[in-house]
Formats: sequence, structure tokens, C-alpha cells
Amino acid sequence: MRAIVFESYGGPEVLRIADIEKPTIKENEVLVHVRSCAANAADWHVMRGDPYLARLYFGLTKPKKNTVLGNDFAGIVEAVGPQVTNFKPGEEVFGQVITGAFAEFLCVSETNLSHKPKNLSFEQAASIPCAGLTALQALRTAGDIQPGQKLLISGASGGVGSFTVQIAKALGAEVTAVCSTRNIDAMHSIGADYTIDYTKDDYTLGDHQYDLILDIAGDKPFADIRRVLKPSGTYCPVGGPGGGLLGSMADSLKALAVSQFLSQKVVLVMANTNKTDLNYLKELIETNKVKPVIDSRFSFDEIPKAIHHVEHGHPKGKVVIFL
Ligand SMILES: NC(=O)c1ccc[n+]([C@@H]2O[C@H](COP(=O)([O-])OP(=O)(O)OC[C@H]3O[C@@H](n4cnc5c(N)ncnc54)[C@H](OP(=O)(O)O)[C@@H]3O)[C@@H](O)[C@H]2O)c1
Repeated sequence: MRAIVFESYGGPEVLRIADIEKPTIKENEVLVHVRSCAANAADWHVMRGDPYLARLYFGLTKPKKNTVLGNDFAGIVEAVGPQVTNFKPGEEVFGQVITGAFAEFLCVSETNLSHKPKNLSFEQAASIPCAGLTALQALRTAGDIQPGQKLLISGASGGVGSFTVQIAKALGAEVTAVCSTRNIDAMHSIGADYTIDYTKDDYTLGDHQYDLILDIAGDKPFADIRRVLKPSGTYCPVGGPGGGLLGSMADSLKALAVSQFLSQKVVLVMANTNKTDLNYLKELIETNKVKPVIDSRFSFDEIPKAIHHVEHGHPKGKVVIFL
């Protein structure tokens, strides 16, 4: 089968299409024929081995042999292991793996899989897991957002942000989206109540205070952010220029340490894949409360271009790949 592999860390030029063996399932796994996958910030971080902390898992000096990049996918069940109870061959599914989604076939534990929302294409479904789960877990598990509460999302127009705005509205929050000028209309069209243009205004200098600040852009120190956080409010750092939570870990841990002396809370968000949350997202989508925002589509051969676009192209929503 065809797969995207890489033998050294670096830019998109280290990626190549290889012909590798189709994987074989373990007893509790599902073999999926991948029809679409999605590119995430995580892919270029793994490709570059940056932050270095990630290399503890993927390989210290170079990636482990036969590492196939990619984590989000949607496809059709080809075969199931004897312990699998919820899926059968022929069913349409979507899910997430740590690596291996940029391939024609992959094996996944049934706990990391859900049935594809009926009203979505494979491409739309592939765009959901990483970004949708991060958004959901940041809002519900970490942020504990309640109906009527005021939420500010910094970095609202990207993959994670576009899900966060819609899920927050579905949960009844009042949403302020921080984005650049070109994304203001798009943010209102997916439900944001208010917008702040970060190219013109600094949200930490505003007059309003928020119950929850979800920080996907990660461009400001907590000392500034807490000015616009209510005394009982919560700050959730999700991402940043340094590579998600791992890259901005030092800043996040500093904020966490400082918060021990404050009434304001800091909760770090590290998303995980689980069936319950995938099913919850599926339900939000099938009841038309959330719809994936697709920025662009690339073919399988163009995966290096797709990753370059995610790293440098300022996507408006998700970047998907069709097979
Ligand atoms: N903690 C976790 O478990 C977890 C999981 C997934 C992702 N992440 C992290 O979350 C971050 C975002 O991921 P993503 O997939 O959403 O990336 P993305 O699609 O590239 O989106 C990033 C967004 O941030 C916006 N932005 C850039 N600078 C900004 C600023 N100063 N203020 C407000 N918005 C700004 C960009 O908008 P413009 O184009 O208009 O600048 C873009 O829409 C990454 O750092 C990723 O590693 C963390």
C-alpha cells in the first residue's frame, strides 16, 4: 500500500511516498481503508521533531523505522479483530491514531473510532477528530463551560478554533472570537457573538472580563491575560507558536504555578482520543449544531504541500486530503 514515510526530521522535503506492507490487525483492532485524512499542526511538529520533547516518543535522532505520518482519517472498515464488537466490514468510520493516517490502510483500536456522521463526506469527517476533540475537551472537561458564560477564544479561525466557536455556541456560551481582519465575517457566520481583530486591538487591554479564556494562539503572557479574566475565571492554554501545549509547556507551567496564589484557575489542555467524545461530536454534527469548516483539499501525492500549507498558509479551518 502507499504511505507517507520519513527517515529524517526536517521540512516537507523529508516526506516521501513509499510502498509498504498493508498492516495486520490485532484482536481488538479494526483495519480501515482510508478514503480521506486531514493535516494538523501535530504533523509538521512530528515531521520536524520539534519540540524536542516529542522525539522521546518518535525517535531521538531520527524517526523510528517505517513511521507513517498522519493522525486524522475517515474511511471504510475492511476487517475487524475477533474482540471488536462495535464495527463490521463495510461500515463508514472516522477516528484518530498517533501516526499512520497518511496511508491507504491503517489499524486502529475500536476505542479510537466512531461511525462517520451520516450527513458528512469522508473529507469533512476526516477533518473532525484532532481539532474537534481538542475543542470539546478544552470547553467541557478543562474549561467546564456553562450556558450563558462568557468565553473568549484566541486563535478562533483555525482548525481547532472553528470547532471551538461552534461547540461553545452549542453549549450555550457567549462567544468572543479573536481573529485577523480577513476572518471576522467567517467567525460571525459560524456563530461568534463578538469578534476582536488581533491585528488592530489587543484583547488583554479590553473592558470586558470572561469566565473562560481558551488560548489557541498562545501569543500573550498570562500576566496580561488575567486582566480580562473574571476573579473566578479559568484560563486554558491549548496551543502556541512553539508547538501546541508541549512547545509552550514552560509558559503554561509558569501560569499554572502562579495561579496557585490566585482565585483564577489555569487548566492545561492535552487532548486525547476516545469513543465517547467522538460520538458526542458525531451527534452535534448530525443535529446540525456543528459543521466542519474546510479551508482546502489536497491529493495524497500533495501531502507535503498540505503540511507546508498548515505550517505557513494560515488556514481558515481544516486542510483535508483525498485518496
Ligand atoms: N493541547 C492540545 O491537545 C492541542 C491539540 C491540537 C492542536 N493544538 C495546538 O493548537 C494550535 C492551533 O492548532 P490549529 O490546528 O487550530 O492551527 P491552525 O489551523 O493553523 O490555526 C491557528 C489560527 O491561529 C490564528 N492566529 C495566529 N496568530 C494569532 C493571534 N496572535 N491571535 C489570534 N489568532 C491568531 C490564525 O489566524 P490568522 O491566519 O488569521 O493569523 C489561525 O487561524 C497549535 O499550536 C497546535 O499545536 C493543541
